Amino acid sequence: MTATAMRTHRCGALRATHAGQEVRLGGWVHRRRDLGGLIFLDLRDRDGIVQVTLGPDWTPPEVMERAAGVGAETVVLVKGVVALRPETARNRELPTGDVEVKAVDLAIAGRASTPAIPVARVKGEELPAEELRLLHRHLDLRRPELQRNLALRHRLLQRARATLSALDFYEIETPILTKPTPEGARDYLVPSRLHRGEFYALPQSPQLYKQILMIAGFDRYFQIARCFRDEDLRSDRQPEFTQIDLEASFVAPEDVYAVVEAVLTALWEEAGETVSGGFRRLSYREAMESYGTDKPDLRFGLAISDLSERFRGRGFDAFDSALASNGKIRAIRLPGGAVLSRKEVDALIAEGKAAGASGVATLKREGDRLSGPLAKLEGMTAELAELNDGDLLLAVAGPDSVALPSLGRVRTAAIARLKLQPREKHVFAWIEQFPLFERDPESGTLVFAHHPFTAPHPDDVPRLMAGELEQVRSLHYDVVYNGVELGSGSIRITDPELQRKVFELLGLSRDEAEARFGFLLRALEAGAPPHGGFAIGFDRVVMLLAGAESLRDVIAFPKTTAARALFEGAPTAVDPQEIAELGLKVLP
Ligand code: AMO
Repeated sequence: MTATAMRTHRCGALRATHAGQEVRLGGWVHRRRDLGGLIFLDLRDRDGIVQVTLGPDWTPPEVMERAAGVGAETVVLVKGVVALRPETARNRELPTGDVEVKAVDLAIAGRASTPAIPVARVKGEELPAEELRLLHRHLDLRRPELQRNLALRHRLLQRARATLSALDFYEIETPILTKPTPEGARDYLVPSRLHRGEFYALPQSPQLYKQILMIAGFDRYFQIARCFRDEDLRSDRQPEFTQIDLEASFVAPEDVYAVVEAVLTALWEEAGETVSGGFRRLSYREAMESYGTDKPDLRFGLAISDLSERFRGRGFDAFDSALASNGKIRAIRLPGGAVLSRKEVDALIAEGKAAGASGVATLKREGDRLSGPLAKLEGMTAELAELNDGDLLLAVAGPDSVALPSLGRVRTAAIARLKLQPREKHVFAWIEQFPLFERDPESGTLVFAHHPFTAPHPDDVPRLMAGELEQVRSLHYDVVYNGVELGSGSIRITDPELQRKVFELLGLSRDEAEARFGFLLRALEAGAPPHGGFAIGFDRVVMLLAGAESLRDVIAFPKTTAARALFEGAPTAVDPQEIAELGLKVLP
């Protein structure tokens, strides 16, 4: 159905089987070359590029003249005949490379001024600076890579919809102008003109609406949901992003896992990848103890071990004092790590220190020789440290809250530095039983690890009621893929009294809880089914499957890391009159 009143085919669709056909094409001039009286135009559209050839033997002179003047990125309409290229002139790198279109007519439909950034690049040519590309996004988006990424994004979206719909989920839209939903970031606020001094918030997620939909009896909901979070941005975060958001009633975590696994497997399949080996499961505690992070990259072994007993009392003060204050000695062995230079090892140590370790002690084995600060420990042998020839051991002593994350960072940095080859291509894992509370790194106070609608682990409710908060696990779970958090979810609190208690633990008075979340409490009191759900970070999924390095390469109109839309110019100052109408005043 690509034929229209103006064209018969898309440029990128032509193949040897079309030879002899008369076609009409519309597209952008990717490149023009004039050679020995012939003109070659690479004509580009969404499907790809085809060579259009003009020559005095088949093209009328006035058409030749018109074609001689067309510049890059001009839109032209071409009429011609598909011809097989001579054997020697075939281009194996182009899907259309067996043919060319011998033009008999060419009309200019949209003349282009000199493009601010080039769309066509020679092999290996670097891209213009990203700021410049974002500023001229209409041209940047013409790049075949971005066309491919957005085509993939489209296919993945359709596949997610079809998969969830087949699993009996309803797609239901929830509001964008809403009330703050806490997900741990700042809200984008929208002032109300009709109700001065009052504000809507853009949703950080549809969390509360989807819970209300369960209470209303919809049983299974999903939405391709746009979320807005005013937070510090990185290459894997955007202020405005898309989730595949879902919720289901009468479910245990297993049921949610089955749905999410079906969706993710379908998406990987849609991108041509085969997922085998199933989804692993680790408790948060296991993930932290073995890999020092709740997002472990399980394609590599390299688990952290506990060497407390082996290294105790061997005359190394830092170790003994850590053990005396209930700390542990944790270590990671890098096979082949002995080849790292002093400078490279120092860089790994610096990673550990940046994550809070007071020091990272090393031990290297080359043949029978041990070296590094730990070689001096009393009775140290390769067997004691379980080192094979060529290994490097990095050890951190201290409380788990410091030693484990430090070694986690050392591990990630070491994998990159040693350019270790993954043992598997795709490793998905569920991380379960997260703590309900965590310590805020700045204030040191206990805060909710996730949103406050997450149910505590049923075994730990008595601890919650008794105020032993640090021991309380939750029914929160994440999916981690090759070290990237793809999404998270939980079973929710459905007992209104427990929900009130949680608001109280958050430091909200009864009145404040009522003002902010009264609608949820009233809904919970109206007969709430057990329910739980999940949200997949869709942009991250597309980025990984497209092999892109940044979310900006899989979003049509992304924001910069400074949260600006450079192309259209947002945010922007507005007419003072409009601000006055909103009852607002901008402070200098
Ligand atoms: P959470 O806040 O963990 O959970 O978000 C789920 C997933 O969304 C993606 N994500 C982002 N992607 C791009 N830019 C961002 N700024 C950004 N922030 C988050 C991540 C993340 O894993 N309502 C809960 C889900 C639930 O409990 O059902 C929620 O939003 O991939």
